[in-house]
Amino acid sequence: MRRKVTVIGAGNVGANTAQKIAAKELADVVLVDVVEGVPQGKGLDMLESAPVEGYDVKIVGTNGYEETAGSDIVVITAGFPRKPGMSRDDLLLANYEVVKSATEQAVKQSPDAILILVTNPLDAMCWTALKVSGFPRERVIGMAGVLDTARFRTFIAEELNVSFENVTAMVLGGHGDTMVPLVRFTNVSGIPLSELTDSATIERLVQRTRDGGAEIVKYLKTGSAYYAPAASTVEMVESILRDKKKVLPCAVYLNGEYGLNELFVGVPVKLGKKGVEQIYEIKLQDGEKAALMKSAEAVRELVGVIKSKIQ
Ligand code: APR
Repeated sequence: MRRKVTVIGAGNVGANTAQKIAAKELADVVLVDVVEGVPQGKGLDMLESAPVEGYDVKIVGTNGYEETAGSDIVVITAGFPRKPGMSRDDLLLANYEVVKSATEQAVKQSPDAILILVTNPLDAMCWTALKVSGFPRERVIGMAGVLDTARFRTFIAEELNVSFENVTAMVLGGHGDTMVPLVRFTNVSGIPLSELTDSATIERLVQRTRDGGAEIVKYLKTGSAYYAPAASTVEMVESILRDKKKVLPCAVYLNGEYGLNELFVGVPVKLGKKGVEQIYEIKLQDGEKAALMKSAEAVRELVGVIKSKIQ
């Protein structure tokens, strides 16, 4: 049976996500946006590359939700991106309204879908989608860790002049300035990073990872990153649709794991056809645990702002 993925938000991240899903023939794609003509135009343009690229999927763009009915996955990228000098958190209240409305409409049409959140501030938007959808936590997942680790892996591979593919990294915590790149679990083909370079270099790469999103915003000036965010989202979509059971760092709702409750925080999970099929609770050292708690606190503060607004 053909699979169906809805991508809400036909901007930079959404359009690239849709295009990559089609190019990999993972599913038919429905692209939704509030701006009239944009999803239709981009959808048709993507469809017209099918004969050249050789993919057989349907792609439609729309301003409504009827066409999204029965989606296996709904990816939410709708919202406003960061401008220079803005933190992801500045986006909070504007994007809360967008994600709330997109989730409400999408889940009416696709009650069994798995939701993947991309809109920032990510962890707070995941919380919003979980509460609005009423879905079990296995079916509401945030894309952050895959992107943050991809950035860390890129910087390490460049620094050491080795294949990007050979670098395995781990980044936990919220998708913000307090994210926690875990050096102890980062290696090149199994060789720990600490064996390959000195601690000052590692600290520089860790800091660049934390600032990875801002580095792109500074260059682009009018928006934030989208190629790597889209690629990271598609890795999650593929693991779910193909039931690959990849172990990836994703934002999930913790119910006691890592000593955290009722909060979305990035941790390693197994992604398969049911969504989050397992949460891995790794033993952290004191410093790592403290950094994770600090990151979780930052997420809790944002959710607190939303809670105070909706009560
Ligand atoms: N419903 C559907 N689409 C919406 C809505 C809505 N209620 N509100 C805004 N949009 C659309 C906009 O019309 C725009 O096309 O969301 C799209 C966002 O696209 P861009 O502005 O290009 O932003 P993008 O770079 O794709 O980032 C989107 O992902 O990585 C995060 O921080 C980023 O929160 C931002 C999101």
